[in-house]
Amino acid sequence: FLLGIDLGTSGTKTVLFDEFGKAVAAHTVEYPMYQPKNGYAEQDPLDWWNAACVTAKKVVEDSGVLPSQIVGIGISGQMHGIVMLDEAGNVLRNSIIWCDGRTEKQCQEITETIGRKRLIELTANPALTGFSLGKILWVRENEPEIYKKCAHILLPKDYIRYCLTGELATEVSDASGMNLLDIRTRDWCDEIIEKLNLDRTMLPKVYESADVVGYVTPEAAKKTGLTEGIPVVGGAGDNAAAAVGVGVVKNGTAFTTIGTSGVIFAHTDKMMLDPEGRVHTFCAAVKGEYTVMSCTLAAGLSLKWVRDTFCTSEIEVAKGLDTDPYNIMTAMAERVPIGSERLLFLPYLMGERSPILDSKARGAFIGLSGIHGKKEMIRSVLEGVIYSQKHCLEVLTEMEVLPKEMLACGGGGRSPFWRQMMADLFGFPVNTVSNQEGPALGAALLAGVGAGVYKSIEEACEKAIVYNEPQPPMQENTDQYLKFYEIYKKLYDNLKDSFE
Ligand code: XUL
Repeated sequence: FLLGIDLGTSGTKTVLFDEFGKAVAAHTVEYPMYQPKNGYAEQDPLDWWNAACVTAKKVVEDSGVLPSQIVGIGISGQMHGIVMLDEAGNVLRNSIIWCDGRTEKQCQEITETIGRKRLIELTANPALTGFSLGKILWVRENEPEIYKKCAHILLPKDYIRYCLTGELATEVSDASGMNLLDIRTRDWCDEIIEKLNLDRTMLPKVYESADVVGYVTPEAAKKTGLTEGIPVVGGAGDNAAAAVGVGVVKNGTAFTTIGTSGVIFAHTDKMMLDPEGRVHTFCAAVKGEYTVMSCTLAAGLSLKWVRDTFCTSEIEVAKGLDTDPYNIMTAMAERVPIGSERLLFLPYLMGERSPILDSKARGAFIGLSGIHGKKEMIRSVLEGVIYSQKHCLEVLTEMEVLPKEMLACGGGGRSPFWRQMMADLFGFPVNTVSNQEGPALGAALLAGVGAGVYKSIEEACEKAIVYNEPQPPMQENTDQYLKFYEIYKKLYDNLKDSFE
């Protein structure tokens, strides 16, 4: 058996799988995201570790599997956040996470010091507020007493590994999102470290995703109910892990995910760059290979915002019917025609990364009228999120990494209604895999490769992933959506000056 731990933004999900990718038991524990100021986003790493312990324990108990039958552990997680530790391994402050946009000034400083072109040459990406380097510089500038005590910097999932194994380590896919990794050598970039006066010893050793990095310690075994000595592999950033979990490990394959963020992700065997930096190029979980991906910051987050702000009564009804409030919200949206009665939504609640790269952008409903109610607003949020995915897909098309079919995963991928909307707007079939565990499955398969259960990542995917029937686009719908999408695309440019 293989254990996958996925440290998400809304919660941590731990799943135990057999070697055929079948989920034997799963459990999720949620935790808060703090927004102390407009544009800030933080979480407490101790919440993450607690969630990992509780979920691992519960999964082992529920499965009836003996802890000694688990042969490998993989961890995936939200990318880009920083966890700062003192010499003794204590957490020094909350993690500034991926959707935090406070580091505009630090990103300018990085760009001026390294040069935008050189930075893209070295790391494949421009300095972005969401990425880790700006956050490190922000703490150095604004909280010097914390920075002075900082001995180690880890990414979110790597902190869980540290707690499990005592090893300070990261791996290539997640490290690619720090603005600090030399994308060609797949190791830290000394030029950037030196020019910005950083200390390389603060950064952990970089592994490949399927490498065994450490083993569960006796102390962690007590807290998690796992057995001491189980190997823990490098794992991957959530999107690179999801790619493995849906079999996107070969050139020409791609998937889209709607979790808190929204992603369009394509696997490439060679490194492909967007010179404008509108989408990201990262190392893949597959050794020596790459990915191109976009990130819409508030995808599921926009829908969660609608749920929590306007849908208290739907939440109550859902409780009574023992269903998810999103099911009720989707059913309401389905009663509204394409275009939401001419109501458009910009999903920039946390600023935006791909493709507009503007941390100051903000969300908007455009065209509100007296005829609009909750159901039109829900539908226009769903449409706005998919328009933003389409906007990113256009950059991939320009880069000639366009797939012929797209797999859908994450919460959004589970809804046939959203999937049809994607297929209609993207203009090609959208498919799903029958085991929808995405990042947790990917992390577990990587663990299986590290533990020798599978010979390669490709073999793991062949053994564990079963594809459903693709959902084709409906031309009539495509024509209608495209009309509204063209209006959507103009809105940001028209509104840009009003965001501050
Ligand atoms: C990717 C990104 C998000 C996070 C959280 O660049 O920022 O997808 O990994 O899911």
